[in-house]
Amino acid sequence: MTGTPAIRLEGLTKRFRGGVTALEEIDLTVPKGSIFGFIGPNGAGKTTAIRLMLDLLRPTSGRVELLGENPRTAGSGLRSKIGYLPGEMGLDERLTARQTLSFYCDLHDTSAEKAFDLAARFGLDLDRRIRDLSRGNKQKVGIIQAFAHDPKLVILDEPTSGLDPILQRSFHGLLRERQEGGLTVFLSSHVLSELQQVATEVAMIRDGRLLAVRDTATMRREAPHKVMVRFASPPPDDLFEGLEGVSGIEYDGLVTRLLFRGEMDTLIKALATREVVELHSTEPDLEETFLRMYGEDAR
Ligand SMILES: Nc1ncnc2c1ncn2[C@@H]1O[C@H](COP(=O)(O)OP(=O)(O)OP(=O)(O)O)[C@@H](O)[C@H]1O
Ligand SMILES: [Mg+2]
Repeated sequence: MTGTPAIRLEGLTKRFRGGVTALEEIDLTVPKGSIFGFIGPNGAGKTTAIRLMLDLLRPTSGRVELLGENPRTAGSGLRSKIGYLPGEMGLDERLTARQTLSFYCDLHDTSAEKAFDLAARFGLDLDRRIRDLSRGNKQKVGIIQAFAHDPKLVILDEPTSGLDPILQRSFHGLLRERQEGGLTVFLSSHVLSELQQVATEVAMIRDGRLLAVRDTATMRREAPHKVMVRFASPPPDDLFEGLEGVSGIEYDGLVTRLLFRGEMDTLIKALATREVVELHSTEPDLEETFLRMYGEDAR
């Protein structure tokens, strides 16, 4: 069983009536235990792919496998192992958050205690009616119901939309914690900076086509750091000569700017031959890398 991926998509294609091809021949494998990001601009096909995975839509062609099973035929055994946060939740506005979560837990035949614990952790007032909750607080209800029955796989469509930065962080904390317990997380977003913090792998989609799948740790290693150094006296022109990984050097009096890709230690040792007054190195921004891949029409 260990070799079975959490999600496998094969040639997944969806054409809507009216001729829109929302997805075209998507092949994707999401390993168990990963936090897998699915990123793409508006209209890329993320929600369509997620709805196909959950059998809420039928593919035009291609196959979906979740935890080794076909979601169309697997039935309730598979459903109890999957948590789902839709991009747009249809919550009953008249119920309280407590009633809503109790209802979901009943559906899954599970105690609501864990859901209530999560509500406390996220600072959700359980006794408010859904219609009186802010957008972010409604989103909390959705996130909590997706996790409440201890699923093996959660599929989340833009989970952090509407959440403030502090909540985003505690949500990421929850994902990492659950990942350690063996959970697989598939989440869509159109903000890479967030996936960069939490995802182990990221798949990029645009116009219904898969552009690339990348391991975020490798991307981080391979993307250049922007480095700024201020020296006590102007550096010699050949200070970085022969140093691998250095590019785009700009000398500006005492300040030197450059891009560096590689082992930081080699750069620091080269700099240390001079008196250094100030040193900045910014973490590589994967967003830039992605936008370059998307090309100009991405924005
Ligand atoms: N029921 C439908 N009928 C016709 N076209 C649809 C339908 N649902 C989605 N589409 C089209 O399929 C394409 C992909 O839409 P989808 O909602 O999957 O994108 P998305 O990546 O989730 O975008 P967003 O970031 O805005 O949520 C779009 O062109 C959309 O207009
Ligand atoms: Mg969407």
